[in-house]
Amino acid sequence: MSGAEQESGHRDNSTEGSRQQSTSQVAIKPPRGTYDILPGETDAWQRLESLAREVFLAAGYREIRNPIFEHTELFKRAVGETTDIVNKEMYTFTDKSDRSLTLRPEGTAGVVRAYLNGGMHRWSAPVKLWYAGPMFRYESLKAGRQRQFNQIGLEAFGSASALMDAEVIMVAHALLSKAGVNNFRVEINSIGCSACRPAFREALKAHLAPCLGELCTDCQDRYERNPLRMLDCKVKADQSHYQDVPVSVDFLCNDCSEHWHELTSLLNAQQIKTVYNKRLVRGLDYYTKTVFELVCDDPRLGVSSTLCGGGRYDNLVEVFGGPPTPAAGWAAGVERLLILLGGQPAYRPDVFIVSANQAEALKLACELRAENIICELDYPTRTAMRSFSKQLQQANKSSAPWTVIAGEEELASGAVALKDMSAGSQQRVARSELGRLLHDLINTQKAGQTPASP
Ligand code: HAM
Repeated sequence: MSGAEQESGHRDNSTEGSRQQSTSQVAIKPPRGTYDILPGETDAWQRLESLAREVFLAAGYREIRNPIFEHTELFKRAVGETTDIVNKEMYTFTDKSDRSLTLRPEGTAGVVRAYLNGGMHRWSAPVKLWYAGPMFRYESLKAGRQRQFNQIGLEAFGSASALMDAEVIMVAHALLSKAGVNNFRVEINSIGCSACRPAFREALKAHLAPCLGELCTDCQDRYERNPLRMLDCKVKADQSHYQDVPVSVDFLCNDCSEHWHELTSLLNAQQIKTVYNKRLVRGLDYYTKTVFELVCDDPRLGVSSTLCGGGRYDNLVEVFGGPPTPAAGWAAGVERLLILLGGQPAYRPDVFIVSANQAEALKLACELRAENIICELDYPTRTAMRSFSKQLQQANKSSAPWTVIAGEEELASGAVALKDMSAGSQQRVARSELGRLLHDLINTQKAGQTPASP
């Protein structure tokens, strides 16, 4: 993304669309809240995805790939009928057989469904899974918010221990740290379980009842339907009413309280920045006990400062007819992480081939590419090859550090000339030795040493 796009957290499709419109009457804009990830940007995506793969593998998580659309019922039951996601944000449609389907707004519901459909509840516990892919929510477009966005996430099934909550949080922490995200903190809270939460909910309602008429319409709406979500209110004028609200940890039953204390002491021993946030409740209904978010106050994220959110959800597998199965997980927003990770080095080939013989140039390129050497050649606009000097200009433009010059005379003797483009020096190399020599040069350069001129 350009600096301006990063500033606002998403690309302004309307500007792009109008630019296209001026050159063509048939230009079609991408839907609002969606965008293309262009070459140059995809490099950063790939780096983050492969880093995530390494971090997940090291912690024993295995990949799962789910469908991008599911039966609408799945999200209604998992995420909750009273949540904003289900009420306002789902992309729901009816297919040709009159089934109600929904583009997945989040990953956990589909993973839980697959956990049961795939018989994973019969595997030995814990079952630790990770996923990556696009999610869809019809949200208002603020900085750091898209309507199609990507998550990387994990879900761990089969352990009720606070050790699992702590591990899950530490894996998120490791991913963000290794990716180079600075200045984030882990906010945690416990919202209890179905045994102790009702008492907290009633205490909260009783506390807020006298000032209900002064609160924003969203809060008034949530008062009966989902009072815990009132704690998430960001409206400035309401904040004074939330100063001294009852806190969920004061209402925990013995089991939840023990779990909470174990978790906080495990996290305190990890030397990570953990902050207790009494108002953290999360926007999905399936959570029990632990909820957490990895939060960063970088202005480039705008109001969307949550990089990663998750928690424990001990009842969800049962909701879908499975055996009692404690579980915990999280998901991180890839676009938000990439806003923080900033500019990335541009693409350049390792080597450019200059030759008067098209067939030999292509053959040489295929040989080097088979050895994973990034290789470009000159593509003339007409059939005839361009002159050597024109091809060398292309080689310069490509920024490849080395050029292979394959003239007829060299080719006839089974050799090529290898030119170091920054030093300007050139040497004759046997074609059979070219791949090995280029690998040595590339590796030396990657290791940050000055390679010896060929
Ligand atoms: P969530 O908090 O709804 O949780 O989303 C997780 C992360 O996805 C957010 O922290 C944010 O970084 C990113 N995100 C959410 N909405 C958008 C958006 N409109 N545009 C850009 N990024 C966005 C879940 O989805 C849960 N399924 C997490 C979980 C997994 N809990 C347990 N297991």
